[in-house]
Amino acid sequence: MAARGPNISNVPLTSARRVVLRGPGATELALTVNGEAVTVQVPPRRTLLDTLREALALTGTKKVCDEGTCGACTVLVDGRAIYSCMTLAVTCEGKRVETIEGLAKDGELHPVQRAFIDADAFQCGFCTPGQIMSIVALLRETPAPTEDDVRRAVAGNLCRCGAYPNIVSAGVNAGKRKR
Ligand code: FES
Ligand code: FES
Repeated sequence: MAARGPNISNVPLTSARRVVLRGPGATELALTVNGEAVTVQVPPRRTLLDTLREALALTGTKKVCDEGTCGACTVLVDGRAIYSCMTLAVTCEGKRVETIEGLAKDGELHPVQRAFIDADAFQCGFCTPGQIMSIVALLRETPAPTEDDVRRAVAGNLCRCGAYPNIVSAGVNAGKRKR
């Protein structure tokens, strides 16, 4: 069977290709979290989820499966919704991370947060921060989403309470709100 991927065995190492080794101990990591520049000391094996929750005390992002199957840990990195339990913090060096804590401004909830309350789009609330972050990412690209757009956006966010119909309504209604 043919080998997969590019053959790099004969690519010359030039001064332009610099490999930076980090760890195994804690290493300094600089990134932006909810608009604030932060520097943390993290071992290279530490996930972004654990870094947010433990080093930065941002516990709004939930740890449920911790293996990339539920979406409870969804945050935005450079505007893209990702599973923070499957992302090493060191790969976010210099990037812009947004969590549920960063959405409300000047004491006012973000339109998606407000829409979730109005549509009663949760029961236990454990999946809610992840659902909201996925819909926030959607609305930036699709300001007036359809039900199907919202369903696709939260396809990676499981709700064990089965609040899906109201989550979809919240996403559509949030698109109609102005900040
Ligand atoms: S906690 Fe990350 S996907 Fe479930
Ligand atoms: S509201 Fe309970 S898991 Fe979604």
